[in-house]
Amino acid sequence: MSARIAVLASGRGSNLQCLLDGIAAGQLDADVVGVFSDKPAAAALDKVPPERRWARTPKAFGSRDAFDAALADAVAASMPDWIVCAGYMRILGAGFVQRFAGRLVNIHPSLLPRHKGLHTHARAIEAGDTEHGASVHFVVPELDAGTVIAQARVPVLPGDDADTLAARVLAVEHPLLLATVRLLVAGRVAEQDGRVRLDGQSLFNPLRLDSAGNLQP
Ligand code: GRF
Repeated sequence: MSARIAVLASGRGSNLQCLLDGIAAGQLDADVVGVFSDKPAAAALDKVPPERRWARTPKAFGSRDAFDAALADAVAASMPDWIVCAGYMRILGAGFVQRFAGRLVNIHPSLLPRHKGLHTHARAIEAGDTEHGASVHFVVPELDAGTVIAQARVPVLPGDDADTLAARVLAVEHPLLLATVRLLVAGRVAEQDGRVRLDGQSLFNPLRLDSAGNLQP
């Protein structure tokens, strides 16, 4: 049976689109059962039929916890096997994270643990990094701090600005996310004691995306 995936997204949804394309191409045995957003105008929502969309404005709720609880209930109602944050720009509270622990992942545009948080591309340039990239990690309550499953690397080139670097990273985010979610839905990846286990073997470093779009230990 296909894995049920819930996607949380706040923006344009190109990472969501890459999962949908992978499903359509028969590369990912999954179904996107819901797209959930804190931005009712997010373009990501339009990529699934209306009955699979949930979007609410956090301001309409009395507190962060109240919004998180409503989001968590909606996500749970879609009965997901995996929850993928793909450009979801709002911090998830500990209650949400704990409710879905072990099956909640995020894609972050940096080589974690470098550059947690926002503006990662500008910060990589400012820091003089020669390499940058993207990471898919398990979500824990501390922002961008969970165990990293897989990464994709790109060079930082002379003359780069945040936009040119972001575009180079985005081009590898898509195959990275697809390849990582393929492993997740196949049940090949789990987390134990802060380490990723692939096919039952502990990894000392994140998997790495190769130029063919495959993940290598
Ligand atoms: C991606 O760069 C993702 O890593 C970051 O936000 C961006 C979302 O892009 N957190 P999209 O909405 O998937 O196109």
